[in-house]
Parts: sequence; C-alpha cells; structure tokens
Amino acid sequence: MSGEESSSQRKIKRNNNNSKSKNYSNLSWAVRMQRRAIWTINANPRKTVYGESLRRFNGKEYRRWDPRRSKLAAAMIRTRNNPDILLPAAGSQILYLGAGHGTTISHLHDHLCGADNRKGGRLVAVDLAPRCLRDLTHLAHSRKGLVPVLGDARKHTAWGALVPRRVNWLFQDVAQAGQVEIFLSACDSFLAIEGIALLSLKAASERWNSEGEAALFTEVGRKIEAHGLELLEGIKLTGFEDNHTLFVVRRGS
Ligand SMILES: C[S@@+](CC[C@H](N)C(=O)[O-])C[C@H]1O[C@@H](n2cnc3c(N)ncnc32)[C@H](O)[C@@H]1O
Repeated sequence: MSGEESSSQRKIKRNNNNSKSKNYSNLSWAVRMQRRAIWTINANPRKTVYGESLRRFNGKEYRRWDPRRSKLAAAMIRTRNNPDILLPAAGSQILYLGAGHGTTISHLHDHLCGADNRKGGRLVAVDLAPRCLRDLTHLAHSRKGLVPVLGDARKHTAWGALVPRRVNWLFQDVAQAGQVEIFLSACDSFLAIEGIALLSLKAASERWNSEGEAALFTEVGRKIEAHGLELLEGIKLTGFEDNHTLFVVRRGS
C-alpha cells in the first residue's frame, strides 16, 4: 500500500470508529442496513423485481435486498470493513459484467439512479445470455439510467464504446472459467485510478489444484496483487453462497 491514505482507506477507518449504538445505519441516501437486513428505496414504487418484500420507513418505500440472491448484498453483510465501501457513488457511471436477470442490478439502480434517474447515474450491465438481456431490457423500461448490453465480458471491443470514460466502480460475476483473467483485463481497460473493483469468484468454475479451494483463493489474491492492484479484502460468502469469495480491489495511482 502507498503511504498516502486513499478515500477507500479513510472509509474503512471511519467504519472502525463508527458507533453501533443504533440498530440501523444509512449506507447511502437510498441504502439502509437494519441489523443484518439491507433495504433500498424503490426507484419504481409498488413494483418488485424478484418477489422481494416491500416495506415503508419514514414514509418511503423500500425493497429488501436478499443476500441469498445477491453476492454483493452478502458481501455487505459479511465484510469486516465499512459496507459502504462496496457501493459506487450515487450518480456515477459504473460497469457490471455478468448482470444476470437483474437482481443485484435493480438494487444498485435504486442507489445509483433513483426514481426517474434523478441522481444522474449510468449503469452499464453486460451479459452474454439473450434470456438475461430480455429481463434486463424489461427492467430498463422502468429504470432510467440502466443500459443493458448483450455482450461477452471478454470482448471489450464489441461494447466498450458504451463505456466512454473510465469508471470508479466495476463489478464482475460471470461464473465461468478464466474469471480472474477476464477481471484483470476489464480493470486494465475500464477502471479509473483509485477506482474500486469487485470480483465474485466461484471456485467451482475454475480448475482445482490438489490443494483445494483455500489455495485457489490465495492464488487469486496473489495474481491480483502481481497485476499491480491493491487487494483490500477477500470476503468469504459461505452461508449465503458457498464456495464463493468476493475480492475487493483498488487501482492505485
Ligand atoms: C451468477 S450469474 C449473475 C448474477 C447477477 N450478478 C446477480 O447478482 O443478479 C452469472 C451471469 O454471467 C453471465 N456470463 C457468463 N459468462 C459471461 C461472459 N463471458 N460475458 C458476459 N456474461 C457472462 C451468465 O449469462 C450469467 O447471467
């Protein structure tokens, strides 16, 4: 780590000093953590995306962010640091590789964009599967700022023009062989200096060596650091998503 304290390191420190006196904390204007439940202000009121519960707090409708359906939510519960470091800045542009049917995407959109995209965010969501794109496109009709892209995370030239400037937050959850190389290449092409990138690694998608899963995760951490990226945390998601670790990485200057 360099001598100078980055904004992400400051956030970690702030968390460690945080008082836990109240039983909830607002991680952002739209994300609320109450005990171990996470809620986001619904950008599309009265509509659910995947059957999640709705509830009102202080006159606003929130959707429950299910950690068993979203690795990002699971990581926010499991992290040893401030969970808000795992969120992008509201109103920023982000890149999400392996968007699936939009479960995590929808909560990120609540926070990044809000209703009618009043925060001015932009969420580029890439997935290889036409079935996923159908659902993402449907979601985008009611969620301005969401940009679904049918594309392969390995082939930047086909869709990279949709990400005209580097992003401060990048997420990858492609669950396919070669996840680490795909991630490192995406960081090279799209991640801004000081940006945070999150890699959800599914052990079963990689070839196992004889030393098993723990050795695999150690090896991935080593590859990330050898690539010149700073590894802030490896969050084991056991209990929510077995055999998964979410790596939190920062691009230094
Ligand atoms: C585990 S799912 C993603 C779930 C999603 N991240 C969520 O939290 O709701 C993995 C997704 O990665 C997509 N995928 C796999 N390989 C890909 C690639 N090379 N490029 C883009 N998407 C890919 C699959 O189609 C699948 O939708």
